[in-house]
Amino acid sequence: MSVVAVVGAQWGDEGKGKVVDLLASRADCVVRFQGGNNAGHTLVVDGKKSIFHLIPSGVLHAGKRNVLGQGMVIDPRVLLEELGRLDETGRLESAGIAISDRAHVIMPHHLVLDRLREQTPGGSVKVGTTLRGIGPAYEDKVGRRGVRIGDLLSEERLRNVLAGALEYHAPHIAQKGHAVPDLDETVRDYLDFGKKLERYVVDTVELIHAEIETGRKVLFEGAQGALLDVDHGTYPFVTSSNTVAGGACAGAGVGPRSIDRVLAVLKAYTTRVGEGPFPTEETGEMGERMRQAGGEFGSTTGRPRRCGWFDAVAAKRVVRLSSASDLAITKLDVLSDLDEIRVCTGYRVDGKPVDALPYAAFEKAEPVYQNLPGWKTDIRKARSIDELPENAKAYLRFIEDVTGAKVSIVSVGPEREATIHVQELF
Ligand code: GDP
Ligand code: IMO
Ligand code: MG
Repeated sequence: MSVVAVVGAQWGDEGKGKVVDLLASRADCVVRFQGGNNAGHTLVVDGKKSIFHLIPSGVLHAGKRNVLGQGMVIDPRVLLEELGRLDETGRLESAGIAISDRAHVIMPHHLVLDRLREQTPGGSVKVGTTLRGIGPAYEDKVGRRGVRIGDLLSEERLRNVLAGALEYHAPHIAQKGHAVPDLDETVRDYLDFGKKLERYVVDTVELIHAEIETGRKVLFEGAQGALLDVDHGTYPFVTSSNTVAGGACAGAGVGPRSIDRVLAVLKAYTTRVGEGPFPTEETGEMGERMRQAGGEFGSTTGRPRRCGWFDAVAAKRVVRLSSASDLAITKLDVLSDLDEIRVCTGYRVDGKPVDALPYAAFEKAEPVYQNLPGWKTDIRKARSIDELPENAKAYLRFIEDVTGAKVSIVSVGPEREATIHVQELF
């Protein structure tokens, strides 16, 4: 097996960063294929915590290739800051950074538009975005007025494309009483970013194919999670890219036949940041308990994450959406104090039972719960399935049974070593 895609299977923050860092030790190349710095991926290595928003989570292993693929939207200012941090820790030279010349660029007007919409939604819903300009950047891409990384290397191209985009957005921005970013100033700043990034800019499609064809191991790193997918998530409370495994094909430039295994990352319970339906949410004391036990505060915006029970109906759907062969179950340790653990096995909408994700009525879906017994044992030192208490093993079996996928990784703490490798993926 040489190509594995790792994707989030809930509303993000499932622990993808930790899982990708683990797998990266055996991979040669890690590729981000969608999203931007709305992502926050946390790695804990040798007691030290690192959070990356744009750079792939393979960078803490020297000598790997770390690729920012063309399906991403990249804020060059943020990327340069992250590269600067890598440099300070002496990791930049061995990080093998490559940036797609075709990835889209988050421009100042995207940040303005994201903020304006969230403050005064008129006409659009308040989503509780990360305010990083992600949605507006993808809109310009699809509207065929987006600036791409390659455009930052040519003043003429950058000026032309940006002038068109600003002309399109200026009336709306001005009408909302906000200053329209200045064309000359923006061109100057972004050409400067282009100069600083130029050494990393390549055609990443050729690079990725060369890796695959020479038998090197490639890891596709998803950001966000399937329930935030623009097509399959809880629309309109979603992000603006395809977060399911298929997104790796379009966003990195490979066909589905190139991906050997898909690993879906599922937290042992559920969290969500921002607005939108969340049927198994616990808003009271239980939710607070999970938030404290799991340290559930956003790695990008610091917002407290909403917490609730594991949703088996959603998990089953998501495994299908990504044809996931394998599961990584993370944060199992967070549930260790509970006498009983609830899992949602169906919904009721207007009193009627439903066993699939309802289209329009998701916000009205009331969860139907099954109670599973807790294990009441500290499992943070378990390093094999046999070291887990019976009830924890039964919890994992329950998840395998409802999803039809195999648990290959169990995470019992934030650190690299707090992991049970049930089966190697590479
Ligand atoms: P990502 O966006 O999917 O990469 O996840 P985040 O990094 O945003 O959030 C996951 C958080 O949980 C981070 O703070 C991780 O350090 C932490 N984490 C990951 N796996 C585990 C685990 O098994 N147990 C505990 N207690 N924390 C974990
Ligand atoms: P990682 O990769 C959790 C959520 C935002 C908001 C919605 C749209 O760390 O799992 P956007 O800024 O993308 O337009 O916001 O999506 N969101 C995330 N939630 N983890 C993420 O990334 C997220 N990226 C976006 O909170 O509800
Ligand atoms: Mg995150």
